[in-house]
Amino acid sequence: MISKRLQIIGDLVPTNSRVIDVGADHGELEKYISSKVNYVLSIENKVGPYNILLEAVSNLENVKTSLGDGLSILDETIDTIVIAGMGGNLIKKIISKKESELTNVKQIIVDAHKDIELVRRYISSIGFRINKEVLVDENNHYYFVMSFVKGTNDYSDLEYEFGRVINNDLFKEYLKKEAERLEDIYLKSNDENIKHKIERIRSL
Ligand SMILES: C[S@@+](CC[C@H](N)C(=O)[O-])C[C@H]1O[C@@H](n2cnc3c(N)ncnc32)[C@H](O)[C@@H]1O
Repeated sequence: MISKRLQIIGDLVPTNSRVIDVGADHGELEKYISSKVNYVLSIENKVGPYNILLEAVSNLENVKTSLGDGLSILDETIDTIVIAGMGGNLIKKIISKKESELTNVKQIIVDAHKDIELVRRYISSIGFRINKEVLVDENNHYYFVMSFVKGTNDYSDLEYEFGRVINNDLFKEYLKKEAERLEDIYLKSNDENIKHKIERIRSL
């Protein structure tokens, strides 16, 4: 069964779109979205996962696979980019290699497992705005699934840092746990940056 996180990512993918999914791995997203989209180009750069992907999508006619790196074979027919389940630095690196070729891309959907602020700021800096953020709680992890469309982002510094998931009990729970986690680190490190981050969380 598809995970809650991947289902949320899949639900953000527009009907009839032409998608590139970087880091497709097990192909679970492809199986979930193939019936509503026109086309999926699934990219995986490691042989083991690629073989699993090949098997998983073998009966999906509109899914094409490639054993390759990032967005290297992005073409002008693709309108939606999905990059999920990686660190923010890697997501930034993958997109930045094709930054000048995103003219026809209408939507970028990302799920960064680390350095989320970096991703929010980076994609916003290249002509996109965040039109949706969903906080997902799965297996004791919190995931921020984010969708970007063309435009200018209006996030405050605090929203870039912590996200915009307004009036959401799960978000409050996440902030409480994040503050507790940072307090533990602060007690051991006396790092003033951590202290200020805790203060910023408490101000929300
Ligand atoms: C943790 S999995 C995430 C799979 C799926 N996207 C998800 O969210 O469940 C990340 C996958 O990205 C692949 N990957 C990492 N860097 C890549 C790159 N530059 N190009 C293509 N695939 C990459 C890895 O091999 C791995 O299979």
